[in-house]
Amino acid sequence: MKLMDEKSSDSMDDIFDRYLDADANIFANREVLSPHHVPEILPHRGEKFEELAKILAPSLKGGTPSNIFIYGSTGTGKTAVTKQVLSKLKATADSRNLSFEYSYMNCQHVDTKYRVLTQLCEDVGINVPFTGLHFDIIYQKFKDALDELHTLHVTVLDEVDMLYKKSTESLYILTRMNSDLDFSKISIIGITNDVNFKETLDPRIRSSLSEEEIVFSPYTAEQLRDILTQRAKVAFHKDVLDFGVINLCSAIGAQQHGDARRSLDLLRVAAELVERNGEEKITELHVRKAQQVIERNTVIEVLTSLPIQTKVVLQAIYLGEGKNDEITTGDVYEIYNKICKLIRLDQLTARRVGDLINELDMLGIVSAQVISKGRYGRSKRIHLTVSSKQVRNVLDSDFRLSKIFEVEEL
Ligand SMILES: Nc1ncnc2c1ncn2[C@@H]1O[C@H](COP(=O)(O)OP(=O)(O)OP(=O)(O)O)[C@@H](O)[C@H]1O
Ligand SMILES: [Mg+2]
Repeated sequence: MKLMDEKSSDSMDDIFDRYLDADANIFANREVLSPHHVPEILPHRGEKFEELAKILAPSLKGGTPSNIFIYGSTGTGKTAVTKQVLSKLKATADSRNLSFEYSYMNCQHVDTKYRVLTQLCEDVGINVPFTGLHFDIIYQKFKDALDELHTLHVTVLDEVDMLYKKSTESLYILTRMNSDLDFSKISIIGITNDVNFKETLDPRIRSSLSEEEIVFSPYTAEQLRDILTQRAKVAFHKDVLDFGVINLCSAIGAQQHGDARRSLDLLRVAAELVERNGEEKITELHVRKAQQVIERNTVIEVLTSLPIQTKVVLQAIYLGEGKNDEITTGDVYEIYNKICKLIRLDQLTARRVGDLINELDMLGIVSAQVISKGRYGRSKRIHLTVSSKQVRNVLDSDFRLSKIFEVEEL
């Protein structure tokens, strides 16, 4: 059997040819715009680099640096600067035969005391089986291994607010560990973009974690322009960028809490749109389109990662809205119960579902306004604040929920 007729096979070749030609036209080096690329020099962060390096420098002479708390809004270079300072410090220590170790962990993933200690063990070269060992044994293994190294160990806890939320105990354990160590020392760098985090910390952890503080302020539009220019010079061929593109990406990033990640994403997505369309120049119009694409993707990411119970509540709201102009918490709960029965999911209480609706409200997915409901007491009027098409797409992609749309009586 012939899979394709001559004509469509030709047009397939065209697509690839056009793609390859376009690639040659737009990108000279695509990699430098990828979210994982970190340039050797970080413009406008020299001062922060120095601040952090000075606090950590005593570790090269056998001292124990203070614990450090780093905060600032998203995309301000906290992770990039910290990683760079530590890798330079390690290289210096190695080149002079000095002892220095560090671990970097992102607490979005490393979020239990087992995971933290297992990762620390791995970083000093001991393998721990993933399950089965008592926590005290893993702790002892790490302590012994570290003591044997006679070293200073810096533990970076990036997104430390996540660890504190899920396992406060981990932070207690780490901040107290020096009293257990005999020949080595540990110091901690906690990083967060949650401005309120410090206030929520237990006072004992707070004073220990924030012996030194470094604040990363948002980038201004001018600073973002320099950051983008540095990348654009390497990323693009000559004359590909229209006048104003970098300024626009920087201005949007500056409005969004001085976020370098957002500005870089805009530039990359705009360039990819141009490439995909086989066009030759990146213009401000492409940046605007890129902005829409990115905002749409963020909503989809949030929706996709919701837990199943919350997704069912969302589906109940979606279905309710499809039938009535105005729906209340009571209506949502009724449909929610029907869906739970159909997919054999535990039914939560009305109060708990009310909490989930509030969570969706906080995420900006629905709006829930209190209305008076006479003898039924207080109720809320609910409606979706994101595009219902996006909600439908995400629900459709969950196999448990997609079949609900075929049920007539809902
Ligand atoms: N001064 C800079 N020069 C060049 N690129 C930068 C600079 N600051 C940040 N970036 C780039 O911006 C992106 C975001 O930076 P980074 O991950 O360090 O932010 P962050 O402050 O850790 O954000 P979050 O709080 O969301 O984790 C990265 O791709 C990084 O390479
Ligand atoms: Mg970060």
